[in-house]
Amino acid sequence: MRVFITGGAGFIGSHLADALIARGDSVTILDNMSTGSAKNIAHLAGKITVHEGDIRDLALVEKLIQDCDLVLHMAAALGVKNIMEHTIESIDRNFTGSEVVLNAATKFDKRLIIASTSEIYGKNPNQPLNEESDRVVGAPQKIRWTYSDAKALEEAVAHTLHKTHGLKVTIVRFFNTVGPRQTGQYGMVVPRFIQAALKNEDIIIYDDGSQSRVFCHVQDAVKAVLTLADTDSTIGDYFNVGGVGETTIKELATKIIERTQSKSTITYIPYTDAYPAGFEDMQRRVPDITKIKKTIDWAPTHTLDSIIDSVAASLKN
Ligand SMILES: NC(=O)c1ccc[n+]([C@@H]2O[C@H](COP(=O)([O-])OP(=O)(O)OC[C@H]3O[C@@H](n4cnc5c(N)ncnc54)[C@H](O)[C@@H]3O)[C@@H](O)[C@H]2O)c1
Repeated sequence: MRVFITGGAGFIGSHLADALIARGDSVTILDNMSTGSAKNIAHLAGKITVHEGDIRDLALVEKLIQDCDLVLHMAAALGVKNIMEHTIESIDRNFTGSEVVLNAATKFDKRLIIASTSEIYGKNPNQPLNEESDRVVGAPQKIRWTYSDAKALEEAVAHTLHKTHGLKVTIVRFFNTVGPRQTGQYGMVVPRFIQAALKNEDIIIYDDGSQSRVFCHVQDAVKAVLTLADTDSTIGDYFNVGGVGETTIKELATKIIERTQSKSTITYIPYTDAYPAGFEDMQRRVPDITKIKKTIDWAPTHTLDSIIDSVAASLKN
């Protein structure tokens, strides 16, 4: 199968490329290398085709989509810090850029998977979140929600194109996905903490650390995406993809210190010292993964311990 991955030099995209090459598919990547990196795909040199460019380039996207059987749309601007510092550019990439991909997949009648996010549920306090949970987002001046808004609009366009034009799309809502190659540079908590722990530096927790998350290893997420893509009954549908085992950020930091045998200590700082004005957080974010389990018999295999070990091993290298 010929697979086209937008954002294929990024964290999840590059792991998708690995899995596809391993099973004998051909892979073409389009990436503007904004948060992605040539390093993530260097080991695939000669095995994949790489185009450095932007998903807003209509002619290029149409050409690449025309030549493939499956599109995995992973390209996006993400990372809370990144979104808050480059708001308009991020909205444009995530909404306008995705519209280009959605329209081209519709035009050439291609199977498409789009990467959405648990952020679309916002700060809905009713946890765990299932696919029918409401969006509860803050006021527009709380800039962090623009990522959630752009992704929700992308989903709405995908959903509508499926209904009106038969677009063969499946929507994947990733919850906190972690693993080798994810960078802590844009505020991702697991690589940021592990990097600090490996250097015996202070681990900085924003607020009091009582906020909780559930982490999913990227290899589990990749398996979910590829199985959904191979299952035609998932067309027109949407699925949470997340891990199991809720943990507070304080527990996460403590566990990371233990498992990496670090001498780091934990420091707490207020959100106002970490983010520009307009930030607000959600206290919990827990996925309900009943639907994907029932539909494609998928379940995450990694525990938080194995996730930490895997990220620590890759950062040591
Ligand atoms: N990692 C997570 O926890 C998580 C959670 C929810 C949703 N997601 C979604 O999964 C997808 C992949 O995320 P990731 O974690 O691999 O992030 P990433 O930043 O590593 O990957 C995104 C890739 O898209 C590329 N890109 C950005 N804008 C582009 C543009 N305009 N044109 C071409 N390429 C562009 C970047 O260079 C990068 O390689 C994204 O859509 C993201 O919103 C990720």
